[in-house]
Amino acid sequence: VGFMTDRGKILVTGATGKVGGELVPLLLAEGADVRALARDPSKIPAGAEGTPGDLSALDGVASALNGVDAVFLLWPFATADGVSGFLDLAEHHARHVVFLSSMNVPDDPEEPAPIFHSEIERLIARTGLSWTFLRAGGFAGNTLEWAPQIREEGVVRWPFAGAARSLIHEHDIAAVAARALLEDVHQGAKYALTGPEAITQEDQVHAIGEAIGRPVRWAEIPPGVARERLLAQGWDPGFADSALTYWASLVDNPEPVTSTVEDVTGKPARTFAEWAIDHAHDFAPEH
Ligand SMILES: NC(=O)c1ccc[n+]([C@@H]2O[C@H](COP(=O)([O-])OP(=O)(O)OC[C@H]3O[C@@H](n4cnc5c(N)ncnc54)[C@H](OP(=O)(O)O)[C@@H]3O)[C@@H](O)[C@H]2O)c1
Repeated sequence: VGFMTDRGKILVTGATGKVGGELVPLLLAEGADVRALARDPSKIPAGAEGTPGDLSALDGVASALNGVDAVFLLWPFATADGVSGFLDLAEHHARHVVFLSSMNVPDDPEEPAPIFHSEIERLIARTGLSWTFLRAGGFAGNTLEWAPQIREEGVVRWPFAGAARSLIHEHDIAAVAARALLEDVHQGAKYALTGPEAITQEDQVHAIGEAIGRPVRWAEIPPGVARERLLAQGWDPGFADSALTYWASLVDNPEPVTSTVEDVTGKPARTFAEWAIDHAHDFAPEH
């Protein structure tokens, strides 16, 4: 258990998103002084000081960082381009940064890592800021991709029914982020964050059906058909292929489960079934 510091103002980026939207109320409940950056500050959760800013052009970022002590950094792009400019400004104003990273970042810094989260971690480590890296596994919210099919037909057509994933409730990422922003003991930690269990995609679909009070059916489709759909959604072919290979591997090798959420927050990580109940409205026909 950490000790509370007299943390000053906390800047939350991505405050209108899945994680940031849960983080702002948690920080406010702890009595923290929260400023939230968004392109449209009218969408920021109530109670926080909203400030307009765009991370792509760094518009508004210098003034958003003015007087800030700690930063929650969510980088909403697919490359690390531009993050150095952000970190230069952050270093000038703040002491600590909590970065929403990914479990795909390899532990060994020598290992080549083709994902931008690794590059951002490296750049943060070179600043004078203290840091905490939240290496999150897949978000439970990724299954919102299935919402249109569930609403329209009560079915999910996708490959690898038996692929088992330890998807994490975004609330739990936010709960760990709050501790890392408020307590000094998390400096230098690289937290691998997952849900409390690995559950198959077919069981995820059934949990959504339970939550919405209507049966939802799994309908297996060939990986090639899924690939075509991903490409039609604008996925890069190489990325689609590696994702499909990864999902296929999870049928025999479920994703790992960590106890980090509970270790840091003192509360068990929320299950996928709990996530589905919390998000039942997102799958409702009238949504
Ligand atoms: N999904 C996964 O499985 C997974 C796993 C590991 C890590 N991650 C990482 O988690 C992050 C996504 O988190 P999330 O799901 O909470 O995000 P999200 O719900 O997709 O929301 C994105 C947030 O980024 C903000 N944003 C987008 N473009 C912006 C810009 N140009 N300037 C300022 N803000 C901008 C959005 O704000 P406005 O649009 O309101 O301005 C919104 O608050 C990404 O960095 C991703 O790499 C995801």
